Amino acid sequence: MMQNADLLSGAPARGEAGADSSGLWIKSSAGEYQLVVAPGALKQLPAQLDALGIKGRCWIITDTTVGPLYLDRIVELVGPSRPVLSYAVPAGEQSKSLALAETLYTWMLEGGVERRDVVLALGGGVVGDLAGFVASTVLRGVELIQLPTTVQAMIDSSMGGKTGVNHARGKNLIGTFYPARVILADTTTLRSLPRREFAAGVAEAIKHGVIADAALFDDLEANLDALYGLAEPITGELIRRSAAVKAAVVTADERELGVRMLLNYGHTLGHALEAAAGYGALLHGEAVSIGMELAGQIAIRTGRYSEAELARQRALLRAAGLPIAPPPGLTADAVLAAVGLDKKRDAGTVRWILPERIGSAVVVRDVPPALVREVLEQALT
Ligand SMILES: NC(=O)c1ccc[n+]([C@@H]2O[C@H](COP(=O)([O-])OP(=O)(O)OC[C@H]3O[C@@H](n4cnc5c(N)ncnc54)[C@H](O)[C@@H]3O)[C@@H](O)[C@H]2O)c1
Ligand SMILES: [Zn+2]
Repeated sequence: MMQNADLLSGAPARGEAGADSSGLWIKSSAGEYQLVVAPGALKQLPAQLDALGIKGRCWIITDTTVGPLYLDRIVELVGPSRPVLSYAVPAGEQSKSLALAETLYTWMLEGGVERRDVVLALGGGVVGDLAGFVASTVLRGVELIQLPTTVQAMIDSSMGGKTGVNHARGKNLIGTFYPARVILADTTTLRSLPRREFAAGVAEAIKHGVIADAALFDDLEANLDALYGLAEPITGELIRRSAAVKAAVVTADERELGVRMLLNYGHTLGHALEAAAGYGALLHGEAVSIGMELAGQIAIRTGRYSEAELARQRALLRAAGLPIAPPPGLTADAVLAAVGLDKKRDAGTVRWILPERIGSAVVVRDVPPALVREVLEQALT
């Protein structure tokens, strides 16, 4: 079992108000990089390119939904000082493919990409993962800047350096560790984000509160309407503090050998529900929300967490517009098979992230499969 004691003791600037509170620093083996969360953060792009000594051309990779909304803004910002090229992949998870990566390689190589050039990943986690993968591999690596436009990407996927594409055998099976040089999260871009996508990102923010930051959980509870109403400075502040949890975790454990596993709270059953329901039926964050409810129940039954804390978690997830029960039509067998808890696998190989209380979680390997089945069966009736 592993504790996350003092996880946040070395956390970068957490939530204080003030001119420089928008910047979080993340350490990685490739160097330190900054995440800026603020309304208007994109305006920093030209100055950041200069400060980082990036002199080459900008290759913007975006998707067909985000491109029409924000591409002009980026071109206006950097176009005057350097050449800009752009490519919009089809919006959606199916774009995270080797085939599309190859299309992007061809686009860049035929356009004469050089190692001093920079890829700007403008969009959600799909664009971030795909563009990061391409940036890390074309010419053995060009510069990368992440410009996340979803809550999920701002507080989770743009940080930590995991890039990747999907394979027929599963999600994210092909990829690299390749952190961005800087991440600029402009909260004004969230104005166009559909509410369901917004809520799916908030699920991960609530997760961060439960696993590592009780004060963040309290403040999400108290300010949920302001968050959804995009009332600044509250929205930026909550997104920044939620991002700070991920920043601290990946700084402490870049390669997921220890504490980074805690970020998988709600994901063991969440991923299984996503797969069993058929990809696309549940948004990832929605599946994680249900996974957190079920993991919370497992925690209680294994002597952790309390009914009162699970009730608070449930109420916050519900208030955020997230589901806490699996969709109809699933069977416990199908979900357990997707977890790997069928006969083929040793139960001890499945890791469970279980909360001890709001603000602290542990990694547990010895949860009896029969208990998981019981919790699932109850939730499915
Ligand atoms: N690398 C990591 O560490 C990591 C961590 C978690 C998740 N991920 C990956 O992230 C991906 C999910 O990311 P996501 O939730 O951001 O989904 P996404 O990138 O598919 O974006 C969701 C939808 O919102 C649209 N969109 C994005 N920004 C918008 C805006 N500002 N206004 C209007 N529409 C907008 C997109 O076009 C898309 O249709 C998954 O592929 C997942 O595997 C990666
Ligand atoms: Zn997740």
